Amino acid sequence: MNLAVFASGNGSNFSALYQAIQEGILKAHISCVICDKKDAYVLERAKQVSVPYYHIALSEYDSKEAYEKAILDILALYHIDYIILAGYMKIIGQTLLDEYSQRILNIHPAYLPEFKGKQGILDAFSAGVSQTGVTVHLVDEGIDTGEIILQERVPVFETDTLESLEERIHAVEHRLYPKAIQMYYQNKRNDERRNV
Ligand code: GRF
Repeated sequence: MNLAVFASGNGSNFSALYQAIQEGILKAHISCVICDKKDAYVLERAKQVSVPYYHIALSEYDSKEAYEKAILDILALYHIDYIILAGYMKIIGQTLLDEYSQRILNIHPAYLPEFKGKQGILDAFSAGVSQTGVTVHLVDEGIDTGEIILQERVPVFETDTLESLEERIHAVEHRLYPKAIQMYYQNKRNDERRNV
C-alpha cells in the first residue's frame, strides 16, 4: 500500500505514521510527501528520513484543477494507492476526489460531527466541554463530513490549558491514525475479496 502524505505544517502525524510503519503497526510505504507551504517543518521531517517531498504552490497554477492535476502526475509516478491528509490546510477539489474516490483519509482533532473546521481544538476548548476527541474519516466534497472510519474520545480537564489539551489530542492522533489506515485498508480488501 503506497501512501502519499499531504501536509502544510509541523508534520508530527507524518512522523508518527513513519514510525508506525517502522514498527510494523501499519503495513504500508510512505512514497512521498506533498506540501503546499514552502517553510513547513514537515519538509524537513521528510528529508531527515529520505522520503521524497514536493512543495507545490497553488499560486503557481492558473486554477485549482491545474494544481491538482500536477499533484496527480506526481502521485502516478509513485503508484499511490491512498492519499493521507495530515494537517493539509487546503480543501480537496474535484480533480483529486474523482481520481481517489474513497481513497483519501483525513484526521481531525475533534469528535466529528462536533467542532468541524480549522480550529477543532480551540473551538472545543473555548466551548468548555468536558470531552472532545479525534476522528479519522474519508474525505468527500464537504468539510469534515465524510464517512467516519475511527474515532476516540479525549477528556478535557478543568486544569487544562489550550497547550495541554493540544498535547493530549496529538498523542491520541499519533496512535489512532496508523491504526485507522490499517483497519480501513484491511476492511476494503476483505470487501473486494468477498465481491470477486
Ligand atoms: C492535526 O491536529 C490534525 O488533526 C489536523 O492538523 C494537525 C496537523 O498536525 N488536521 P501535524 O502537522 O501532523 O503535527
